[in-house]
Amino acid sequence: MIICICRAKTDRDVLETIEEGAASLRDLQRCGIGTDCGSCHNMLQVMLQSAAARAAVARPSIPVPVSAEHAQ
Ligand code: FES
Repeated sequence: MIICICRAKTDRDVLETIEEGAASLRDLQRCGIGTDCGSCHNMLQVMLQSAAARAAVARPSIPVPVSAEHAQ
């Protein structure tokens, strides 16, 4: 699916760029995505937020020590 019409970038192009390290709209723009009219910016932000949420879920959780108060 085309996300950025001006630059002819698909959702796959955007996801690949995010997977390669783009973490902000500015990063995507540095890679040539969303640099013209700006009508794709909302979708790009949604894709960035979704990728960040997926990455947070995929990260192993840090064990939280049980306090003596709750250990009884
Ligand atoms: S649609 Fe992406 S900059 Fe115009």
